[in-house]
Amino acid sequence: MYILAFESSCDETSASVVSADDSGIRVLSNIIASQISVHALYGGVVPEIASRAHVEAISNITYEALEKAELTLKDIDLIAVTNSPGLIGALLVGVNFAKALAFANNIPLVAVDHIKGHIAANYIEHPELKPPFVAFVASGGHTSIIKVNDYTDTETIGRTRDDAIGEAFDKVGRIMGLPYPGGKEMDRLASVGNKDFAKFPSGAIHDDTLDFSFSGLKTHIVNYLHTAAQRGEDIPKEDIAAAFTKTVCDSVAAKLSMALKQTGINKLVIAGGVSANSHLRNALNNMCKEMGAELYMPSLALCGDNGAMIAAQAYYDHKSGDFAGTDLNAYATKITKRVRI
Ligand code: KG4
Ligand code: ZN
Repeated sequence: MYILAFESSCDETSASVVSADDSGIRVLSNIIASQISVHALYGGVVPEIASRAHVEAISNITYEALEKAELTLKDIDLIAVTNSPGLIGALLVGVNFAKALAFANNIPLVAVDHIKGHIAANYIEHPELKPPFVAFVASGGHTSIIKVNDYTDTETIGRTRDDAIGEAFDKVGRIMGLPYPGGKEMDRLASVGNKDFAKFPSGAIHDDTLDFSFSGLKTHIVNYLHTAAQRGEDIPKEDIAAAFTKTVCDSVAAKLSMALKQTGINKLVIAGGVSANSHLRNALNNMCKEMGAELYMPSLALCGDNGAMIAAQAYYDHKSGDFAGTDLNAYATKITKRVRI
């Protein structure tokens, strides 16, 4: 079947066409209109500007996605759209566009959870990957450990109690004067810095939960840099980036190894913008090797927000009969109870 999927939950407008069957998901097009240059001016995503930019981009990228896939709307069997979580105004653009397209062309519609979509990016590139597994989703807005029981049945077993990891990367980057979003540049700087330059407070909560807290780490570094500036000390950005990244990697590895032990599952999947971090990928690779666990990660192109991952999850949602009607709405947050194992 051919699926046309939309993603507009934050600062990327994306439309993708995939062909899908039980043997796998093949990406025919995955057009991403990034708004980063617009928001960089403000050092973060401005929700109103994001919604407007989605409106401006969505029709053109739909044409582009169909054209690249060499298909027309008549060939499309299913339309999919992210409806939660995310910026409400941004989500509504995608949801209303997808609803109108589905209704006008009599095509079934599926609403996709953004977090499940990130995880599903892995099904595209690893057709051999099958639940159950433990997933770690880390992006600008989310940091969660999820037990994926089946393609559509997931339980959040750990999460950040405050800042998301991507948010911490971006805020530390901002204090150091890096352009928004700082995550990618922090990754590059960390490769040439001294990771043992300083010891920062862990982001892993010191208890038996699978929860994180990154606001303390972020504030610690902000204070550290301010104090250094007052003393006239010039701290190399590379060293801050390296020591911060090491702290993040150690914190994540600690909780993910606990998650694998507590669930008795030895398969780990990572996803989301922060899963592009080269140091995190290395650290988790080493951790999984030591534990004898399998590790799956998306290629860099599918780590960030994109429509193809939404199409991949939609394939499994539609198989479970989970269709949306014209009353479909968007939700900024989804109340998911954290399940203690
Ligand atoms: O998944 P995503 O594209 O959007 C959200 O759903 O938030 O993730 C964006 C986040 C940003 O915070 C960005 O700085 C971070 O992912 N990011 C990285 C790297 N590449 C992107 N963080 C650390 N290292 C990277 N290489
Ligand atoms: Zn995302």
